[in-house]
Amino acid sequence: MIELAVFGAGRIGYVHALNVAAHPRVKLKYIVDPVAGAHRDELAGKTGAAIAEAETVFGDPDIAGVIIASSTNTHADLLLKAARTRKAVFCEKPISLDFPTVADVTAQVEASGIPCMLGFQRRYDTSFRALYERIASGASGPLEQLTMSSRDPSPPPRSYVETSGGMFRDSTIHDMDMARFLLNEAIATVYAVGACLISEEIGDAGDIDSLMVTLTTASGRMAQITACRRGPMGYDQRLEALCAKEVLAIENQPQSMLVVNTPEGRHAAPPENYFIERFRQAYRDEMNAFIALIENGEAPLADIRDGYEAQRLVEAAIVSMNTGQAVRFGTSWVPDGEN
Ligand SMILES: NC(=O)c1ccc[n+]([C@@H]2O[C@H](COP(=O)([O-])OP(=O)(O)OC[C@H]3O[C@@H](n4cnc5c(N)ncnc54)[C@H](O)[C@@H]3O)[C@@H](O)[C@H]2O)c1
Repeated sequence: MIELAVFGAGRIGYVHALNVAAHPRVKLKYIVDPVAGAHRDELAGKTGAAIAEAETVFGDPDIAGVIIASSTNTHADLLLKAARTRKAVFCEKPISLDFPTVADVTAQVEASGIPCMLGFQRRYDTSFRALYERIASGASGPLEQLTMSSRDPSPPPRSYVETSGGMFRDSTIHDMDMARFLLNEAIATVYAVGACLISEEIGDAGDIDSLMVTLTTASGRMAQITACRRGPMGYDQRLEALCAKEVLAIENQPQSMLVVNTPEGRHAAPPENYFIERFRQAYRDEMNAFIALIENGEAPLADIRDGYEAQRLVEAAIVSMNTGQAVRFGTSWVPDGEN
């Protein structure tokens, strides 16, 4: 049996812990979370895992890997501890909210040679994966323009916004990763605008709630990301890929396939409620990929370098928004100082 530990028993840690515990070749041995919340105790009961301190996990030679799903400000330290004690790591995005720390931790983890994957679960989603594979097969012809919409059902509370690192680092990092994944070419320019259009509370906390980003690649192909902390039709995750021979699209996944037809029209079920429901299977598949990484060294779809690169794009977008200028990005751009 592969023995694992999960850090963080919050929203996403809960999902990951149940997924690994359900795997036939895994024993979830420890859950680490300093807060004795309902989730933590429920998880311990459901999985048989012990509630432990970080030191116990990193000092246990039988622990093969750790899942870092704790608050963002803990990721860097836990990644470095995993590298020092040679544990495989699955780490949620982002690596850190501070870019120099992202760069330093990425370099140290890579130098250590430990297996490490990042939590970009959209890469494991059946629809995003099928679209990626269709483009990669050549059937669609070259991808020329990518348009992505990313809208939350409703704005998060001010307390969340204050520690999130802002909308770009917290949320748009997923869209940046998907743009990189699909364009599969160095990004040349990043132009972003952002504003507070829907929530005064978010503005008071110093963040934005609405943004748009335009990316271009070295060969001139383009991607556009439109994101908002509110989706009038619910959780809204759509994508269109204009290719030379066909247009590929990912629509929202409905909560059910029921369609009600009446003289007034056609009523379909609303989209899945939020990311936990929409990406339920993708979260299972990324945990299976983490286990395959530990068992056979099978390369994951997203590693720590992908976390670094997506965050580099996010930092460029923040610089662009703040200066009103496009950022000439290229392969070596890094932010200088405070943004
Ligand atoms: N990939 C995704 O789809 C996705 C979705 C949600 C969150 N996330 C990321 O996952 C992380 C957790 O987000 P969340 O929404 O579950 O947050 P959350 O606040 O619901 O849970 C975080 C948990 O971490 C615990 N914690 C704090 N310090 C800790 C420590 N030192 N050791 C262990 N546990 C500690 C907290 O007590 C809390 O229970 C964030 O980095 C977030 O960006 C990713």
